[in-house]
Parts: sequence; structure tokens; C-alpha cells
Amino acid sequence: MTTDNRNTLFSPLTLPTPDGTGLKLRNRTILSPMCQYSVDKMDGVATDWHLQHYGAIAAGGFGLLTVESTGVSPVGRISPRDLGMYSDEQEDAHRHLVSLIHSQGAAAAVQLNHAGGRASGKPWMPGSHGGSEPIEEGGWQTVGMTDQSIAKGYQPTTKLDKTGIKQIVSDFAEAAGRADAAGYDAIQIHAAHGYLLHQSLSPLTNTRTDEYGGNIENRARLICEVVDAVREVWPNSKPLGIRISATDWVEDGLDIETTARLMRELVKHHGINWVDVSSGGLVNTPLQPSGPGFHALLGAQMKQALADTDAIVSVVGGISSPEQAETMLRTHQVDAVSIGRAAMRNPHWPAMAAASLGVPREANPAAVQYWRAEW
Ligand SMILES: Cc1cc2nc3c(=O)[nH]c(=O)nc-3n(C[C@H](O)[C@H](O)[C@H](O)COP(=O)(O)O)c2cc1C
Repeated sequence: MTTDNRNTLFSPLTLPTPDGTGLKLRNRTILSPMCQYSVDKMDGVATDWHLQHYGAIAAGGFGLLTVESTGVSPVGRISPRDLGMYSDEQEDAHRHLVSLIHSQGAAAAVQLNHAGGRASGKPWMPGSHGGSEPIEEGGWQTVGMTDQSIAKGYQPTTKLDKTGIKQIVSDFAEAAGRADAAGYDAIQIHAAHGYLLHQSLSPLTNTRTDEYGGNIENRARLICEVVDAVREVWPNSKPLGIRISATDWVEDGLDIETTARLMRELVKHHGINWVDVSSGGLVNTPLQPSGPGFHALLGAQMKQALADTDAIVSVVGGISSPEQAETMLRTHQVDAVSIGRAAMRNPHWPAMAAASLGVPREANPAAVQYWRAEW
């Protein structure tokens, strides 16, 4: 690996776009999407909580905020308290959110998701144990690639027929059109963490025998169709991203070689510009790692696999030390870092990181109103 002083946490980064214009980020810190389970009326519409949460994080200096998992349809939401992108009212609330994020100098991406058999989940609350929200309490019948329950505590799904699959693809496209109209700069398609696109891709959960199941080409078909349909409506002046679980951490599940090959295909032939590397979430396994920078190696492997493309690779997982993030960039393991829980602990994580790395105050992305805090 080479070293390059320009590849640092606080150097700007351009996410490539098909038309060559690119989306310029002020630095390489990305807010990882994190469900807030804070929709009050179960209508998918962002609330004051979302405004203060994303507003504070934008003011804290992040280059790009990825707004949490947002359902492309009512049945695609992870829980009844998730955001949606399928009604005019939701679109208007997203427009307000995007304008707030932009006003603080950050770019805005939205994570579009269909949760499949993991939809209709219990919203996370202190002491909650996951599993399906019963229909009498606001849950709904879920749909998936098979009719099996996806995990312990989740209801059996209704198996999607081909018409149902086409509907999912067009739901993603319609949501992408709304995301564009709301002003988002980027989309991240959620193909990780055990939700529908991951359920389709992994041999552990996709036991179909039609053209959407079986070999890897068939299991990847739904993802390719979704990416193509989204790219069709998403402007060529805007980057399109995807979050992938690079491995299932289980023998016979997905591995980094398989997912890296798929990402190459999506970048080279389907208009993906940004790959965000995560892992697992489909089945419980003791092999799932944790700790500081626990996906760093997977991120570096993905970056290597995409080295001859212009795609940007970011990685998420246990990144909270500025020094560690800086080293990951300077050694070209990845192009950007996605920060999750550390941003909830400290929405001003980038401002803090810049100060601790000795970045001059003028180059610190802290809001000027806060300069007297002497970052
Ligand atoms: C409260 C919470 C909500 C999350 N919601 C999402 C989500 O909406 N979409 C997603 O891809 N990952 C989600 N995740 C996973 C995070 O984006 C991230 O991948 C994970 O927390 C590991 O990164 P970290 O160690 O920086 O937190 C969530 C995590 C937390 C803690």
C-alpha cells in the first residue's frame, strides 16, 4: 500500500457520477444510516426529532449524512416508526430535512430499503427484544423471497411471485424519483443487514428455484434490477451508492470474493458509484466481529477489488478514534469512513476529530458559531 498525504480525513472527496460532474464532499466523514424509530404517527413522515438529530450532525461537520433506512413502500419499512418515501407528505418532510442538512454545509444521501421478511419489526426501545410487531399493534403481513420466517421471532412471509418482485423494483424507482425531487444528493440502496436485497442475494435465505434463486447470477438478479431501475430515474449528475454485507460470516453464506465480484459488476455495468462495506445481519453467528474498526479488512479488500474503477469505497464498523480513521485513509484502505454510534455519542465527531488531529481551525468543519469553543 502507498501513502499519500492528500488522502486524509479532512481532504475533500468527490463521489463520481456518470456525467462526470461528481458530488464534492467537504471531507471524508460520512454519517452511517441509523434508524431513529421516531416517526410519531406511523405514517413514514419525518418529525422534529429527525430535524434536530440530522441538523446537529450536519452542523458537527460531517461531509455526507446518510439518512436512515427509508421504506420504499409501507410493507418495506423495518418498523411502523420508520421513515418512508412513498407519499407526498413524506417527500415534503424529506425536502425540509435535506434543506436543513445543506444549510450546514453537508451533503445528503438517503438509504432506500425494503426490509422483506424483517419488515414490520418492533421499533427499538430500551428493553425491546426485536421480532415482529403483531398486526393488532400496527404490524403487517410481510413479503419475502420465500414463505419462511427470516429469523427467530419473525412471522412467516408471503412469498413474492414475479408480479410482486416487479412491484418491488418499481417501488424503488418511484422512491428514487421522490428522493431526487426532495433534493437528495445521493441514494444508498440497502443491500445489507438481512433485509430483502440481502435475503435475495444470500444462499442461506434464498431457496427459490425460479430465475430469482439458485446460482449467484439468479440471486443477484433482484439487486441488479433494482439498481438499473433506480439508475434510470436517478439523474446522471448524482452518485448512486449501495451498502453491502460483504460476508455472512457463515460457511456456505456470502463471502467477500462473491460480494466484491458483484460490486465490480454493479460499478462497471449498472451505474453504482459508491460502495459502503458492512457485514452480517442475516443469521446469528458467533463469528460476527466487533471492536475498533472491525470491518477495516473487508473495506480494504473491497477497495482492492474496485481499484481499477473510479468507485468510492467507504467502510463502517467501530470507527470512533480519529487516529484510526486517519490511518485507514492515509494507507488507502478505503476512501471514506462511515461513522454510526460515535456520531450519536457526539454529533460533533468531525469537529472533535479535526481538533485532535491538529487540523488548523480554518480547515475544521465546525460551525463558525462554535469556533469560540476552541476546537
Ligand atoms: C440505532 C441504530 C440504528 C441503525 N439503523 C441502521 C439503518 O437504518 N441502516 C443501516 O444500514 N444500518 C443501520 N445501523 C447500523 C449502523 O449504520 C452501523 O453500520 C453500525 O452501527 C456499525 O457502525 P458503528 O460501529 O459506527 O456504529 C443502525 C445501528 C444503530 C446503532
